[in-house]
Amino acid sequence: MTRDNVTEPQADNLAHHKKHSQYNETFIAALQWLWGDGNLAPGGPADLADMLDGIDTTGKSILDIGSGLGAIAVDLVRTHGAATVVGVDVEPHLVEHSRERASKANLSHAVSFETVRPGPLPFEDETFDVVVTKDAIVHIPDKARFYKDVRRVLKPGGAFAGSDWLRGGQGAYSDTAAHWLEIVHLDFELQNLEQTSTALRHGGFENIRLNDRNEWYKTEIKNELATLAGDKYRQLENMIGTEAAEHRLRSSQLKQQAVDEGFLRPTHFLAIKPT
Ligand SMILES: C[S@@+](CC[C@H](N)C(=O)[O-])C[C@H]1O[C@@H](n2cnc3c(N)ncnc32)[C@H](O)[C@@H]1O
Repeated sequence: MTRDNVTEPQADNLAHHKKHSQYNETFIAALQWLWGDGNLAPGGPADLADMLDGIDTTGKSILDIGSGLGAIAVDLVRTHGAATVVGVDVEPHLVEHSRERASKANLSHAVSFETVRPGPLPFEDETFDVVVTKDAIVHIPDKARFYKDVRRVLKPGGAFAGSDWLRGGQGAYSDTAAHWLEIVHLDFELQNLEQTSTALRHGGFENIRLNDRNEWYKTEIKNELATLAGDKYRQLENMIGTEAAEHRLRSSQLKQQAVDEGFLRPTHFLAIKPT
């Protein structure tokens, strides 16, 4: 360990994570097959561009929380002109993949990654111009505390932009959603749009904007299911095995139901730290 909340990956630790983490190697292969190289969430570069709508990223220092395989961090420099990006993730093997990605893109001088423990971000107050996060907050149970911590590491006037898996309604999850979450084995905790907006405001942000993308995902999930049919499905089966492929198909089918019934609401947000 170098600093509070930063962990140094050991070789045996890496091997363990590759096999047993929530994002093990089979799962990340399937997700990239579905959503494109380097993506552990749907939408790709167009989604990132939409998340950044209205923010100037040129020459900025950016923190990417839940950086996954590092594609977003690389894209932030290559396409969106960021000066530096630090990506943090709780999975050491994903951080390794991300470092390889940055190195292959010849961007190791500008893009770096750290494995962190869940909890306070290991950065000084007012370090970053922009904080970005795509589809990772859903893993964080105490969102109110998380938003306050993001505000802390942002410079005054800094922007917090991202995407999160939100839900419709409140109280118990719908049966479909509960079933979907049970089979995907992800420690997701979804809050609704109102809770998100309130928590961001209490976290000290202003000019909060939420963009509910439930309709967008209704189309997207149809495409996902089309990809999981016929010859293409057999391709996936050959790649990750019959059991894992069946699991992936079932998960997408349940997710489609959860989207269609209005439970699952992928949402983009933008919030500003007051000057
Ligand atoms: C759905 S994936 C999205 C990855 C990436 N942002 C992308 O869009 O491809 C969620 C990521 O959040 C990471 N994660 C989960 N809990 C976290 C936490 N407390 N802090 C940082 N990252 C976390 C996971 O390891 C995973 O890489």
